[in-house]
Amino acid sequence: EPVIGLIGAMDAEIELLLGQLENQEQIVKAGISYLTGSIQGKRVVVCKSGVGKVNAAVTTQILIDTFGVSKVVFTGVAGALHPQLDIGDIVISASCLQHDMDVSPLGFARGVIPYQEVSDFPADAALVQLAEEACKALSVERYVVGKVLSGDQFIASRDTVKLLHEQLDGACAEMEGAAVAQVCYMNDVPYVVIRSMSDKADGSAHINFPEFTAKASERSYDIVYYMLNRL
Ligand code: ADE
Repeated sequence: EPVIGLIGAMDAEIELLLGQLENQEQIVKAGISYLTGSIQGKRVVVCKSGVGKVNAAVTTQILIDTFGVSKVVFTGVAGALHPQLDIGDIVISASCLQHDMDVSPLGFARGVIPYQEVSDFPADAALVQLAEEACKALSVERYVVGKVLSGDQFIASRDTVKLLHEQLDGACAEMEGAAVAQVCYMNDVPYVVIRSMSDKADGSAHINFPEFTAKASERSYDIVYYMLNRL
């Protein structure tokens, strides 16, 4: 029976999943708690990676090596980069790119990992399609399938938003997706990232981040829950 890995970076992003997890067992590895069990009869491992690309990469490799997951779904919140996106809207990853990878002094375009064929890691087409189906079924007013940009920075300025959207074609900015994506790519494991917008990455997030994060996390969870039923 296949096992599906479900990752969030923060407690708010996984707590609703944990509420549905039956026959929970906890295994701790590299300081991360992995909760195994089932949701809607599907075998899953739910975990909180912590924030940032290194945490996300280690967590994903452990999901693959120790728990043998055959698919990875990341659920959580992000800052909107696409001008049409508002708080609560959804981005489904077409692909993920590390926006803070910058070897431009050596002539590499921003975001390009030197001496490597792929830097913009494509998500699994079937998982993307299923996520879209979920958005339609749940009457999510606005969602886009687009490029998720990840970096070890909380984006909080209009200028950076403009740059990331125009230069790198980012739909949203977060801090884990592209690390998960790269590890999945290296291991040939399908993945998708589902992000609900908690802020517009413009510097106003600190005012209501916890409140919007709770709401946005619920959105992202609803989509993942719908998907699980059909995986
Ligand atoms: N996650 C949620 N909002 C974000 C932002 N503005 N930048 C990076 N990660 C985020």
